[in-house]
Amino acid sequence: MARTTISDLAAKKKRGEKWAMLTCYEQMTASVFEEADIPVLLVGDSAGNNFLGEENTIPVTVGELIPLARAVVRGNSTALVVADFPFGSYETSPAQALETGVRFFKEAKVQAVKLEGGARIVPQIHALIAAGIPVMGHLGLTPQSVHALGGFKVQGRGEDAERIKEDARALAAAGVFGIVLELVPAELASEISRELNIPTIGIGAGNGTDAQVLVWTDLMGLTKNAPRFAKAYVDVRSAMREAAIAWKNDVATSAFPSEDETFH
Ligand code: KIV
Repeated sequence: MARTTISDLAAKKKRGEKWAMLTCYEQMTASVFEEADIPVLLVGDSAGNNFLGEENTIPVTVGELIPLARAVVRGNSTALVVADFPFGSYETSPAQALETGVRFFKEAKVQAVKLEGGARIVPQIHALIAAGIPVMGHLGLTPQSVHALGGFKVQGRGEDAERIKEDARALAAAGVFGIVLELVPAELASEISRELNIPTIGIGAGNGTDAQVLVWTDLMGLTKNAPRFAKAYVDVRSAMREAAIAWKNDVATSAFPSEDETFH
């Protein structure tokens, strides 16, 4: 099966077909998501708090994300792989954004990139698209700006809704192929999704977006304190802990390795 393309996603929007995107940070999980036929994988800077042991996404660097993105591309041959631009890798100028995009394309071979921000990053988006790099936008709660936003809280309530709508229009006009809407009221996300002719991808944004994205460790019940908007479909954390304890005990009692795992 061929990789999902941005044209496939545009066609899904036209048909009113919803789709799913998951974060992914390495090749083993990427191959599981190929078996599950997940059409889009995001090598998110959420790798900071979900893979690299950071408190949040802010310290993540391009140099840290590129090997993860390369592993995801190698581990999955059917998904569109999108790499997040980490904080500090695009804000300075369109030239800086282009340099980051070129690195992700050449060194990790991803097929698209994602940037946080609205109208203020339109020049960066133009530079990337002109170079042939498809761009996904990200509005609402943008974790790289968590300190400026005063914490992880719902964005776009009341009068602030207009600011997010304006940013969504600016991104769409600049040519992004989709926009993540994070932690915004469901009504606002639905309104933006109806107005734009590109897909919206919701996370904590209700059921009215064209697609949904989750951090994979939240979906699998591996994250210790997952956010309320995430739903765990399996308890991988308990399963891994129990397996580790069972093996440790078998080692202590010489039950492992048994004859089955032994060579003569
Ligand atoms: O980095 C990330 O995982 C993200 C998603 C939450 C959209 O940006």
